[in-house]
Amino acid sequence: MAIFIDSGDIKEIEKFAKMGIVRGVTTNPSLLLKDGVTGGMNGIKKRMVAIAKVIHPYPLSVEVTSNEKDEMLLQAKQFSQWADNIAVKITIHGPHGELDNLEVIHLLEKKHDIRVNVTAMMNAQQCFLAALAGATYVSLFAGRVNDMGYNSVEEIKKTRKLLDDFGLKAKIIAASTREVLNIVEWLHAGAHIVTVLPKLLGGMIVHPYSKLTVQQFLADAKT
Ligand code: E4P
Repeated sequence: MAIFIDSGDIKEIEKFAKMGIVRGVTTNPSLLLKDGVTGGMNGIKKRMVAIAKVIHPYPLSVEVTSNEKDEMLLQAKQFSQWADNIAVKITIHGPHGELDNLEVIHLLEKKHDIRVNVTAMMNAQQCFLAALAGATYVSLFAGRVNDMGYNSVEEIKKTRKLLDDFGLKAKIIAASTREVLNIVEWLHAGAHIVTVLPKLLGGMIVHPYSKLTVQQFLADAKT
């Protein structure tokens, strides 16, 4: 799996998908707002259907826009009808720590056969419970963990060990990339997937010394 793109920008997604380096896409309401999605649920649907088509059969994560139990279930069922490669993102709990979400996650995975990406998690214990509830993906916001002064690598290692020790199917998505070095570092720590901002993917590819080397090859070829 390795690399997902963390974006709602279809042009950027298309560019990297054509290179064969993308194994999925993650979005959230903040990214969609930044990437110009307007028009309420119809606007979201239009963009998500287009992205799902570009990356098919790889998965696209789409986040529910409510934290109310029935509405989360309803939206999840709707999103999963938009394309067969859509996974539904649900936060680990509500905005004030409400505990309804794990029940919703469990119902979606076990009763409705809908793939769930449990999101906005900051540590191994949250990821462990999300995985026990049946989540397909557990999104650990590693960049935000670092922002708070904690070591994201340790949380990724602990999460991976728990998933492996207890034979849980969930895959770790390390999210909230901030720097190019995050990608290989988090994969090395045990993340199955890192979801990467498009600008950081460009940063992984281009190296100043590679540039000079290519320039030298081209100049010598001319001579
Ligand atoms: C991806 O699934 C997350 O929603 C995203 O990486 C969060 O990024 P942020 O912490 O920079 O907002």
